[in-house]
Amino acid sequence: MDNLTTRGYTILKEISKGNWGRVFLVENRGRRYALKVARTRGVVSSIALPGRLHEAEIMRRSQRACRGKGVVRLYDAWVEGEDTYLLMDFVDGRRISQLVLEDWKAPATRDQFLRVMRAILSELDRLHTLPNPIFHMDATPDNILVDHASGRCYFVDYGVAQCKGVAEWIVRSTHSAIIGKLGFVPPERMMRDQSDLVGPSTDLYSAGVIGCMLMLGRYPFTFVSQPYSARDFILPPMPETGSLAPYAQILDRAVAFNRSDRFPIARAFLEALNYAR
Ligand SMILES: Nc1ncnc2c1ncn2[C@@H]1O[C@H](COP(=O)(O)OP(=O)(O)O)[C@@H](O)[C@H]1O
Ligand SMILES: [Mg+2]
Repeated sequence: MDNLTTRGYTILKEISKGNWGRVFLVENRGRRYALKVARTRGVVSSIALPGRLHEAEIMRRSQRACRGKGVVRLYDAWVEGEDTYLLMDFVDGRRISQLVLEDWKAPATRDQFLRVMRAILSELDRLHTLPNPIFHMDATPDNILVDHASGRCYFVDYGVAQCKGVAEWIVRSTHSAIIGKLGFVPPERMMRDQSDLVGPSTDLYSAGVIGCMLMLGRYPFTFVSQPYSARDFILPPMPETGSLAPYAQILDRAVAFNRSDRFPIARAFLEALNYAR
């Protein structure tokens, strides 16, 4: 990371340390940025890794399409040795997972629920309806940040995103690793059905699971690290009690076991929430 000093950046603190890399808060000429240092080589041999600047390319496409409004902007990206560096806007806020599991520790209020779900689904709708649609593929509560000051939601971590027109990186064989986070990947994908891999179904299912999480104040599933069978993918019906009762059946539909029973596009899911009484 010697190149950072020569480029004029000072590391203020480490924000996150994951399997694939680390994220730092850095400063340059009085401005703060997030710097993601990702190990993009030699991590997993069983999957076809995307190009090393894949994430940067997806972020650029996403921000170009909305002139940088409402998205985490990428300012620079470079490769050095084994690592890829992404310099982007710093979102001063909390992950959805931190909000639900650490801050609230309870079901969301109606306001909290609608604010977060509308933000997620509007952004998915925008990404999915671009001329070259972007499918995030890892829309989990760890990859969506809520800004302290504005309350806006921001997606990060486009490392496994799929986009028509950008060299797509598809799981190499039906026996290789599943992309995404267990519990947020739809059941058919876990059962090696890759038929909608470059399509909206994974993101919409993930958004549904996040909705269930907001409604329950905890993860809706119990198989976080245990072995699982197909039956485990049937999430229990959401409770039709409390202030979120009008949304229970909508969430049940969003995470239905069969893809054909779910919302086909983000806008349909969003409108169902908007019209629920
Ligand atoms: N632009 C950003 N601003 C603030 N925090 C960020 C930013 N990007 C990532 N983070 C934090 O770092 C964590 C890891 O970044 P992410 O891109 O998701 O990498 P990983 O591949 O390790 O999951 C995120 O969950 C988030 O908490
Ligand atoms: Mg992440």
